[in-house]
Amino acid sequence: MPQVGTSPPRVDGLAKVTGAALYVDDIQPPGVLFGRTVRSTVPYARLDAIELDPDFDWSQVTVVTAADLTGPNVIALIVDDQPALVPVGGTIRHVDEAVALVAAPSKPLAEEARKHVRLVTSPLEPVFSIEDALEAKVLLHGEDNVFKRFEINKGDIAVGFAEAEIVIEGTYRTGAQEQMYIEPQGVIASWEGETVRLIGSIQCPYYVHKALKALYVLADEQVIVTQAVTGGGFGGKEEYPSMISAHATLLARKAGQTVKLVYERDEDVAATTKRHPSRTIHRLGFMKDGTLLAAEVDVVIDAGAYATLSEVVLSRAVLHAGGPYKIPHVKIVGRAVATNHPPHGAFRGFGAPQTTFAYERQIAKAAQAVGQDPFVFRRHNMYHLGDVTATGQVLRESVATEEVLDAVEAALAKEGPNPRAEGDSLKRGRGVAFYNHGAGFTGSGEERLKGQATLALLDDGRFCVRSSSTDIGQGAQTTFGQIAAAAAGISPDQIVVAQPSTDNVPDSGPTVASRTCMVVGHVVGQAAAQLMEQVQAYAKANDLDPSDRVAVAAHSPSELQATVTYRPPPGIVWDDQTYSGDAYPVFGWACCVVDVAVDTDTLEVTIERCVHAVDVGKAINPRIVQGQIEGGTLQALGWALWESVLYENGRVLNQRMTNSIIPTSIEAPELEAILVEVPYSHGPHGAKGVGEIPMDGPAAAVANAIEQALGIATDELPLLPETLDRLTRGGGK
Ligand code: MOS
Repeated sequence: MPQVGTSPPRVDGLAKVTGAALYVDDIQPPGVLFGRTVRSTVPYARLDAIELDPDFDWSQVTVVTAADLTGPNVIALIVDDQPALVPVGGTIRHVDEAVALVAAPSKPLAEEARKHVRLVTSPLEPVFSIEDALEAKVLLHGEDNVFKRFEINKGDIAVGFAEAEIVIEGTYRTGAQEQMYIEPQGVIASWEGETVRLIGSIQCPYYVHKALKALYVLADEQVIVTQAVTGGGFGGKEEYPSMISAHATLLARKAGQTVKLVYERDEDVAATTKRHPSRTIHRLGFMKDGTLLAAEVDVVIDAGAYATLSEVVLSRAVLHAGGPYKIPHVKIVGRAVATNHPPHGAFRGFGAPQTTFAYERQIAKAAQAVGQDPFVFRRHNMYHLGDVTATGQVLRESVATEEVLDAVEAALAKEGPNPRAEGDSLKRGRGVAFYNHGAGFTGSGEERLKGQATLALLDDGRFCVRSSSTDIGQGAQTTFGQIAAAAAGISPDQIVVAQPSTDNVPDSGPTVASRTCMVVGHVVGQAAAQLMEQVQAYAKANDLDPSDRVAVAAHSPSELQATVTYRPPPGIVWDDQTYSGDAYPVFGWACCVVDVAVDTDTLEVTIERCVHAVDVGKAINPRIVQGQIEGGTLQALGWALWESVLYENGRVLNQRMTNSIIPTSIEAPELEAILVEVPYSHGPHGAKGVGEIPMDGPAAAVANAIEQALGIATDELPLLPETLDRLTRGGGK
């Protein structure tokens, strides 16, 4: 069996289905204390005092406040504006912001203690909407509440709109979305002298490493961060683990004992990051024959109370706002604004789903305006090899626009599944979405990151992959094993993947941005090939049988290993000042078609068919890739139709899985996921990223389908029955 392009079982599968795998809450160190977090109940206020109830028995309880910090009070990320704990005299900026911490020998005692900490606050006037933030009557940040602004220009939109025979404009809104990983956030922390050890449910061990080093002013080797088996991330365990890790380590240091801090579901939903709500105003100018001439995009995302990752989410939003379309005149402006919501952050797609929703709604309306079939219109305007994007990037390779459209149209020519919805009051519609997604860090990001992986020969003759890229359920360990096996010319069962820990794996860069297979997989393969060369050279020099790797390992006085640092493909030129150049070395391409049935009595929407073709370059493990596409598609359908984060005065109202619903197998249609493989010359075996792209497009396809079914403009998400009711009555937001 060849090592790649086949689907061996997942290496982590057996331990997970048998319950042998240890998630962080399964780990029970002796004498562990349980932590709880005291959080604000007001969205914006001065913190005047923290009072401990004098009638409560505090003898067994450790209490931590900002006064216990010895280093800077900051969670280090991009802009260091977020405190670990709000200090007395400081400002509370969102509901459920961490103010104090308690730890006790039992969970109930910790919970009881938490209730006996009282916060004295003086309220300030909060800001919750994007419009109020832009109006800047109340200033939360700087002079205009704008954390970050990007602008992209191509051609001259004044010329483009003057020439256009038809111009359409729309305002598009999308809501927040909770990642709803199965396992909530959690970590266990302990200190040995001046060295801190942490294990937890995390995507990016080196992000936590960096944050803890900054918080305690420690050297690299004094902070050891290990990833426990992790039950899902989707971006939600990208930045927040630095916060919960700060809290657990603060408690452990003061208590002098190991502390476990694992969130309950309600705390996780209330306090941790979600997808950014957005508002996009989109103008599109085109000719009566359907030729696109000009696009003007103004996207604003609600960053929440602190900058966190909003600037990079915004970057991806603007860089994807042009879509897979050749448009001579383009202007894209993006802003991330401050509000008093808990910070919004990384979530699969990372800004691209928001702008994709806007442009694919516009494209649907434009096709309708000129009376063209949605596929004909898109084919007329799509990119081909050699075309130039909005940032001035020449598409030099692997443009799979035609391939994904062909794949979807061929699938639609075949009969679909039986209609799922029944009744006399149904209206049906079909919607298309067509889009692309750039994988890896933007521009020169990968050059700066210098992601590394090490392959080492173990005593038992197997090769060990050492990388900080975590398996968070997406199958990274299995995929890495296959890539390494193919490169070394050995069987995948001769590869093991080390548990990522900052004391035994190099920094591969974070497990984000659809980069794990495409970027880190690339160096894993190179390192495996180099290690095999070393093994063979060593065997030859010492008269050993090169296939007897146990003997080679035993003979060698030190471990044989190969470490490779990622080098981006040559010729990538990017200018951060003008936001122009090669935004990504390559793009993935995709097309999604959704058939809906809308019950006109209840306005419930059933997805009757979903065909989704995604260009992945090469599927290393087709079953894993299919799982990525199906999972991302369902998350996108959930964002479009069912998932709604309800804020009231900045507080999340629906904090449980019973009232913060995500789609289940009942809602899931038979997903027709089609893998398109147009290879990328610099990816392992041609592979591109696949983690995020399936999240970008399906929501627009759903909205386009409902528009066709009901004849109403469906320009906001989520399209809950109550949203459709308001829209059919002609009510805006
Ligand atoms: Mo992320 S949304 O983990 O790039």
